[in-house]
Amino acid sequence: PFLGRCLIAGNWKMHGTSRDLGTIGRIMTLADTAGDDVGVALAVPHTLIFPAAQMADDSRLSVGGEDCHSAEKGAHTGCVSAPMLVDAGATFTLVGHSERRTDQGETDAEVRGKAEAARAAGLSVIICVGETEAERDGGEAEAVVRRQLEGSLPQGDSAGLAVAYEPVWAIGTGRTPTTADIAAMHDSIRSALTERFGAAGESILILYGGSVKPENAAELLSASNVGGALVGGASLDADSFGAIVRAA
Ligand code: G3P
Repeated sequence: PFLGRCLIAGNWKMHGTSRDLGTIGRIMTLADTAGDDVGVALAVPHTLIFPAAQMADDSRLSVGGEDCHSAEKGAHTGCVSAPMLVDAGATFTLVGHSERRTDQGETDAEVRGKAEAARAAGLSVIICVGETEAERDGGEAEAVVRRQLEGSLPQGDSAGLAVAYEPVWAIGTGRTPTTADIAAMHDSIRSALTERFGAAGESILILYGGSVKPENAAELLSASNVGGALVGGASLDADSFGAIVRAA
């Protein structure tokens, strides 16, 4: 699902039950009417992957997970493996979201293991990185993101990979970096990707995430090396998410 010029991906986090499948249906319709070069994806809670993927089967909407375990199976109560996501109908998954890095204490090495497991199962992967406010204030933002990337990128080639830059302080706060700051970070991520993958690193989509709304989407998406958006809160509402897709 990550081959277009631009990808708009929603992340529902811990929101949504079967009552919200109607919203997913509306998002599916807007995915089908989006421009040919704009991909639309939605990461949903594990419990919604199967019904959402069934519904989106013939549509251009890609349904994915928000996380997976690094093991294929085993004694890991409460966890879900990448082959299980595939079985439920997911075509991609997020890994390393900052909320998991914080709430579950996930390390770069664990994120990398998850990314490798996801690709081995045939999923595309969005690897999330981003600095905290203290790290930005300390002038360390680019170094932190570089370190996260080095530790979290999977072994092998760049097939099916996308990166999401989500500054932790911009998530759910209504605050965003300036377009100049986003451009500087995305340019730095681009160099890290080409150092790692050579010319193939040029075509990896680098999404921006953190308080993307209909009002700021066009401007944020215009910044250098921004290949789409990862949208939290605004993806819960089909009209808002639709407006972001149209801005792309
Ligand atoms: O993964 C998307 C997310 O962390 C951004 O959330 O609500 O600021 O759009 P939000």
